[in-house]
Amino acid sequence: MVKPCLVTLFLVLGIVTAGPANAADDSPTRTLGEAKDVNACLNCHDDPAVTSILHTAHAVKGDARTAFGAEGCQSCHGASDAHMAKPREGQPRPPPSVVFSGPHVSPVAARNQVCLGCHEGGARMHWQGSQHETSDIACTSCHTSHPVNDAVLAKKTQAPVCFSCHAEQRAANLKPSHHPVIEGLMACSDCHNPHGSPTSHMLKGATVNDTCYACHDEKRGPFLWEHAPVQEDCTICHTPHGSIQPTLLKERIPYLCQNCHDESAHNSQPFSGANLPTGSSPGRVMVLRSCLNCHTEVHGSNHPSGVRLER
Ligand code: HEC
Ligand code: HEC
Ligand code: HEC
Ligand code: HEC
Ligand code: HEC
Ligand code: HEC
Ligand code: HEC
Ligand code: HEC
Ligand code: HEC
Ligand code: HEC
Repeated sequence: MVKPCLVTLFLVLGIVTAGPANAADDSPTRTLGEAKDVNACLNCHDDPAVTSILHTAHAVKGDARTAFGAEGCQSCHGASDAHMAKPREGQPRPPPSVVFSGPHVSPVAARNQVCLGCHEGGARMHWQGSQHETSDIACTSCHTSHPVNDAVLAKKTQAPVCFSCHAEQRAANLKPSHHPVIEGLMACSDCHNPHGSPTSHMLKGATVNDTCYACHDEKRGPFLWEHAPVQEDCTICHTPHGSIQPTLLKERIPYLCQNCHDESAHNSQPFSGANLPTGSSPGRVMVLRSCLNCHTEVHGSNHPSGVRLER
């Protein structure tokens, strides 16, 4: 989109300016097309917060995919000739075509179009229609391009970027039982593809369970004796982000289990001495690990006599 008009510009330039059309030329008279020369921008933008981009993947001139060699800063900021020219008397300097931050920031769609121009497909295959895309989130809401380290790419620094909008998940991560995300050992993007996915909640796996199996493969089975809800969806019992219950459980045991299992099988009224069921007593059901005192293999059992998930 940008290229053809620049080509035209260069043609015009060849006619209008008698001087060499060499972009690297250091001549003080600024000409159109010079905008392609990185140094021309750096003449005015020598702030380290801007020049740091020269040390990133985007400024590898030898990498034709970055277009930095050919287009320079304009590979992202678009045509900037008007921006570089001397502003008219009393007029403000017009910004470059695409501005990613500050008061003259371009519309989200225009900013995203620049990035997607080189990064469509791959991990971004499901960007269109994703919750982030439809909520008008920009690539640059998460990514920075000038700093040498883009915080969102590293496990240690990613979560705060997400937390800036997802306060609920931040609160969950501060609960006693949580995946080691705030500790920097895991990232949100271990379970989610923030660019979108065909799975609900932008999960990385084809299902919730497939997402979990990536690290908890021992829960996959098949088991000789399966526990139906485990095969169905781990989040029936666990919450992924954080819980005040141990092991990320959604609810305290025995109540968690009793959402599905009738209390009449094992009486769990702590102080009712009456009607003790056979093979059990309220005490043994309620103390210590409750149901897990006996049913230890809650994810499934491979023991020949593990039908009751006790071994
Ligand atoms: C002659 C000096 C000069 C040159 C050359 C120059 N800029 Fe600027 N640029 C400025 C000034 C001054 C501002 C601040 C404008 C303002 O605050 O209104 C600015 C602001 C910007 C901004 C922020 C936009 C905004 O309005 O907030 C971007 C992005 C930018 N320049 C990119 C570039 C790029 C890319 C080039 C090279 C193609 C370039 N500049 C060349 C002087 C220059
Ligand atoms: C002209 C093409 C081009 C444009 C435009 C572009 N990129 Fe890139 N980007 C690249 C190339 C090439 C790489 C290096 C890929 C590699 O090494 O495999 C890269 C790398 C990246 C990386 C990984 C960096 C790293 O250190 O691993 C991120 C993140 C990224 N780009 C985001 C963006 C965002 C956000 C935008 C829009 C502001 C953008 N890109 C615009 C070509 C482009
Ligand atoms: C909600 C935050 C978020 C948004 C919005 C976002 N990204 Fe990313 N991006 C990430 C995270 C997190 C990673 C690291 C993924 C990982 O480690 O698996 C990443 C990685 C990347 C990478 C490098 C790895 C790769 O997949 O090649 C590129 C390139 C990239 N994003 C481009 C984009 C572009 C283009 C957009 C806009 C269309 C965009 N991102 C929008 C969070 C985001
Ligand atoms: C890969 C795309 C990309 C390239 C290439 C690029 N920029 Fe940027 N630029 C951005 C993004 C994104 C921002 C918003 C801040 C950030 O992410 O670091 C930005 C912000 C800026 C700003 C405004 C700083 C502020 O106040 O936020 C200036 C000025 C600027 N760029 C100048 C340049 C110059 C000069 C070059 C060439 C040396 C350049 N940019 C190359 C993507 C790019
Ligand atoms: C261990 C995997 C895992 C990690 C790590 C993870 N998530 Fe999730 N996330 C899920 C699952 C599974 C869901 C589906 C909803 C559910 O069942 O609770 C979900 C749902 C969500 C939702 C939708 C609302 C909700 O809570 O249901 C948001 C937003 C979200 N996650 C953001 C994040 C952020 C931000 C991080 C990093 C701080 C993160 N997630 C880390 C697995 C994970
Ligand atoms: C600029 C704000 C912003 C940032 C930063 C951001 N998100 Fe989001 N995210 C949203 C909005 C808005 C939605 C859609 C509304 C909603 O569901 O909360 C969303 C939706 C989601 C969902 C789907 C929620 C659902 O209900 O299915 C997940 C998962 C998610 N974000 C994860 C992340 C992760 C992981 C990061 C960091 C890599 C991140 N987000 C960074 C704003 C943001
Ligand atoms: C990227 C790897 C990864 C993925 C994917 C993953 N986990 Fe984890 N999980 C971990 C790590 C690491 C721990 C912490 C282990 C430790 O502390 O010893 C953990 C711990 C747990 C714990 C025990 C927490 C505690 O407090 O003891 C549960 C329960 C759990 N994960 C469930 C899930 C569920 C459900 C999913 C899918 C939604 C999932 N995990 C996806 C890596 C992962
Ligand atoms: C029927 C409820 C239930 C379902 C469904 C369930 N779990 Fe659990 N999970 C538990 C209970 C109860 C514990 C605590 C076990 C203990 O303390 O001995 C636990 C503990 C864990 C632990 C930490 C201790 C360990 O055994 O490694 C991980 C990891 C875990 N579950 C992962 C998963 C995954 C992955 C899934 C989905 C495949 C899943 N769970 C489905 C009830 C469930
Ligand atoms: C979402 C519902 C659900 C939850 C929650 C649940 N279970 Fe189950 N459980 C089932 C189903 C369904 C079966 C299979 C019943 C059948 O085959 O008749 C089952 C089977 C069992 C069995 C084997 C019983 C038999 O008849 O062979 C035991 C033991 C068991 N569950 C214990 C637990 C414990 C302990 C918990 C709490 C940690 C728990 N369950 C949580 C639904 C659940
Ligand atoms: C003291 C050990 C013990 C504790 C504690 C215990 N169970 Fe059991 N459970 C058993 C035994 C033994 C059986 C097999 C009884 C039978 O075959 O008649 C059993 C059978 C079951 C069954 C199979 C069907 C049925 O109703 O007989 C389910 C479901 C079950 N227990 C769920 C639970 C739940 C839920 C809890 C916690 C509220 C729990 N158990 C606590 C020992 C225990």
